[in-house]
Amino acid sequence: MQRIAVMTTGGDAPGMNAAIRAVARTGISCGLEVLGVEKGYYGLLDNLFVELCSSSVGGIINKGGTILQTRRSKEFHLPENRHVAYGFLKQRKIDGLIVIGGDGSRKGAYQITKESGIPAVFIPGSIDNDVYGTDQTIGFDTAVNSGLEAIDRIRDTAASHERVFVVEVMGREHGFLALEIGFTGGAEIILAPEFKKDIKLSNICRAVDAGIRRGKNSMIIVMAEGVGLSSEMAQSIEHKTGMETRYTVLGYIQRGGRPSARSRRLGLMFGYEAVMRLQQMTRGQCGMVGIQGSEITFLHPRDTGRKEKKIDVHARALNAVFSI
Ligand code: F6P
Repeated sequence: MQRIAVMTTGGDAPGMNAAIRAVARTGISCGLEVLGVEKGYYGLLDNLFVELCSSSVGGIINKGGTILQTRRSKEFHLPENRHVAYGFLKQRKIDGLIVIGGDGSRKGAYQITKESGIPAVFIPGSIDNDVYGTDQTIGFDTAVNSGLEAIDRIRDTAASHERVFVVEVMGREHGFLALEIGFTGGAEIILAPEFKKDIKLSNICRAVDAGIRRGKNSMIIVMAEGVGLSSEMAQSIEHKTGMETRYTVLGYIQRGGRPSARSRRLGLMFGYEAVMRLQQMTRGQCGMVGIQGSEITFLHPRDTGRKEKKIDVHARALNAVFSI
């Protein structure tokens, strides 16, 4: 293996630059040439490659986003387009590929290997933390802390106005962000898609009434975007309970910001492991790096398959106890 390429795909996540830096400098220290693919799968289809040298990745460890940029690409779903991309990879003599992204990007990386033979290592990087096979993805910790900062601020005005606040967080169809932000932010109620069958307006309003009766003068409800619109939820709660209720959609502030130490560490360790694993691979092989407990792991596609990551129901149960 002489030349590898690294790319960031899907939604950007704080810590991706730490991973790019680790991939580039580990590759260079192993005597490899390292290229970056710009703009994710879109860039692969458009032959957007850039040489990465040690100085290319200087001064980025503390920067959110991704210096390679990313762009979602529907075109990549078409086999005829993917084969154009494989032609560019072959033309540039790319011997191995490292793809940093979310669950959808992992499928794309494995598909490249399956169809072109080029070995690929997937690095889980997404604020959603919805990738099976790793306890945590790059960016999740930073997004949680951004959410906590917002919750702490909202709590001030909620208490001053004796209001209920519904705070909507990202996470696509999952509630990992909502649960962690709600649990560590001391939210009274956490609404996640995984618990959708228990989510009834009557139950929520009963909990609000119970809190007010207990002497709470304000409450925080964290709602994952996959459950619905916080604006509608707030309106319904106010209508049913008579408590003034407002909503805030955190949105894209969860995607940006200086990566936390945890997000940087995951980026560095995943980037290093990915390059070391890739060099041991032969055509047709692929897999993903991850972390389980404190151990950096490497899983083959057969270890992950189409498995869904499970949400921590214990944290949800504990939160119900802590929020009385
Ligand atoms: O996958 C990360 C994520 O931020 C999700 O939480 C969110 O639903 C989605 O990306 C938004 O996608 P886009 O950046 O394309 O609007």
